[in-house]
Amino acid sequence: MSKFLIEGGQRLKGKVDISGFKNAAVAIIPAAILAGDRCIIENLPNIEDVQALGKILSELGAKVELDSENQKMDIDTKGITDCYADYEIAKQLRASYYLLGASLGRFKRAKVAYPGGCNIGTRPIDQHIKGFEALGAKVELEHGIINVQADELVGAEIFLDVVSVGATINIMMAACRAKGTTVIENAAKEPHIVDVANFLNSMGADIRGAGTDLIKINGVDEMKGCTYSVIPDQIEAGTFMIMAAATGGDVLIDNVIPKHLESITAKLKEMGVQIEEYGESLRVLSTDKLKKIHLKTLVYPGFPTDLQQPMTSLLTQAQGTSIITETIYEGRFKHVDELKRMGANIKVEGRVAVVEGIEKLSGASVSSTDLRAGAALIVAGLMADGNTEIDNIHYIDRGYDRIEQKLLSLGAKIKRI
Ligand code: EPU
Repeated sequence: MSKFLIEGGQRLKGKVDISGFKNAAVAIIPAAILAGDRCIIENLPNIEDVQALGKILSELGAKVELDSENQKMDIDTKGITDCYADYEIAKQLRASYYLLGASLGRFKRAKVAYPGGCNIGTRPIDQHIKGFEALGAKVELEHGIINVQADELVGAEIFLDVVSVGATINIMMAACRAKGTTVIENAAKEPHIVDVANFLNSMGADIRGAGTDLIKINGVDEMKGCTYSVIPDQIEAGTFMIMAAATGGDVLIDNVIPKHLESITAKLKEMGVQIEEYGESLRVLSTDKLKKIHLKTLVYPGFPTDLQQPMTSLLTQAQGTSIITETIYEGRFKHVDELKRMGANIKVEGRVAVVEGIEKLSGASVSSTDLRAGAALIVAGLMADGNTEIDNIHYIDRGYDRIEQKLLSLGAKIKRI
């Protein structure tokens, strides 16, 4: 089991290149099933979730070549004739649920075990199921396996009860091959919804309105392969912005879409961090005097839940009392106990965390409980006095592309041991 050892107190300085968006990539790879043809996906992050999906598709019968060095995957899904993903497959990552929408679209059936993923609260998939049923599929849960099948899929109007990224994408994928028009109302608007829709359209789908809360999908008879490049990772970029702010750094975050980062930029500016915006990059300049803020996680374009945990670490050293409200996942405060080991003064009451700023965190042995909790502990380790040892870093490897190399190039003292 590897661990990260961080010697805190180094000011991050330099330029960091942001990789392709994990949460777009993990939908785009299974979506390639719809083509039944060859797709070349570029700008993929070099992370475990991408490797796992490549393996899953090849186990299902696809020809997959992953060129991690060049962030590229060549996938030919002609050889897939059916989709059965058991628990051993599906537990590897949350995004295994996208096998349902893609296979339902192409084969009108799929069997996928209830998905795994980070333990950050209850994560129902009732809205995915509601969408599949509206399109005419029968959905049954038998011994932990979700069995979806339809004689034919017919376009429908679907109003999501909760704004869900996964349900929006899954329904969009299945609806690509339904007869007639599907309308998703109260759809999620996250940047990766647009990216996945663009990928599906490049394969011949007819999707309009992605990025708004009303998406129209006109079903098509056929889809084909394509070459597609994934957008930059909004959450990785935000994590590095927070790390730069945490260390009083001066970092150019390169290969980003600044528009996707507006909610983070706004909050960091409110804390007193200076941010300069360029075409495809942001310069983050910070001092060690940060102001308290109140923060609420919301669906896009609000502040993303995936950055709440790294932001909590940053706020431990802001002057005054900050209040964080987590509205998306009730269980996303597991990092707080670990931060307390490092001297943080945080009280959690339900979905609210009250963070009293302190002078300095002190390095300690801590454990990451999920992907973004791991990122939060790296932020804490970079700010802290002395050495921090983080274990369970396999969570971090699931979603951050070569994080220690990127940090080393910015002057951090971090070692994988
Ligand atoms: N929800 C339902 N029913 C559903 C689906 C969702 O009640 O059928 C609820 C969830 O319980 C949650 C909220 O709706 O309270 C939002 O869930 P959503 O479906 O949007 O999340 P997801 O698709 O499971 C993706 C990302 C998460 C990210 C969320 C929110 C992937 C693989 N995962 O999850 O990413 O936090 O959207 O933006 O794309 C991460 O990267 O660390 C991560 C957890």
